[in-house]
Amino acid sequence: MELKKAINDRHSIREFESKRVPRKIINKIISDAVKAPSAANSQPWEFHVIDNEKITDKIRREHSKLLITQKKDFETLEKKIKEIAKTFYGNLGNCKTIILIYIPKEKDEFLRMNRFLSVAAAIENLMLSAVEENLGTCWMGSFRKIEKEINKITKVKDKELVAGILIGYPKKGYKSVERKRKKLNEVLKFIK
Ligand SMILES: Cc1cc2nc3c(=O)[nH]c(=O)nc-3n(C[C@H](O)[C@H](O)[C@H](O)COP(=O)(O)O)c2cc1C
Repeated sequence: MELKKAINDRHSIREFESKRVPRKIINKIISDAVKAPSAANSQPWEFHVIDNEKITDKIRREHSKLLITQKKDFETLEKKIKEIAKTFYGNLGNCKTIILIYIPKEKDEFLRMNRFLSVAAAIENLMLSAVEENLGTCWMGSFRKIEKEINKITKVKDKELVAGILIGYPKKGYKSVERKRKKLNEVLKFIK
């Protein structure tokens, strides 16, 4: 697939078919993810894949509690998005495969940020590679809000959770919400 097509076709997907992603495909996608640049080639990432339904369900349950604790944040969303978010935060789009991305804990803010940025680069590779496999993804920053609860479930210790990625086959007929982009002249400045 052409890169440009993958970039254009990638949208956050919030409803999935009830099907796990084969591990062979996960291997391929993560192999693409780790080709991303990283600060001083540190490759600080660890990808923890959950495709055990008992565990994904536990995460789903913890995540649904955000509907109560993050009530105020929901009120700020556009009406259409709010409706989608309410269902989605409760069921995670029925996603059967979740990827958690961790970094080693780091106190130095500069180094910690470099680790975050390196992971972000890897996630973009991951998401574009998923498009090539006809898979949809959704980056879940909200998982960081339930990091303690997630780590209890996954038994991961002494690492920082950067993101959760939902990955799966988009539900048949699912139409992703086209999120507007800022105009180029709002974000692109040539220094004179
Ligand atoms: C750092 C980060 C955190 C995100 N966290 C969430 C999240 O918690 N829940 C969610 O539904 N989408 C989340 N997203 C997805 C964004 O909402 C989405 O990328 C954005 O609205 C643009 O839409 P698009 O991905 O379809 O182009 C996150 C994206 C990024 C980059």
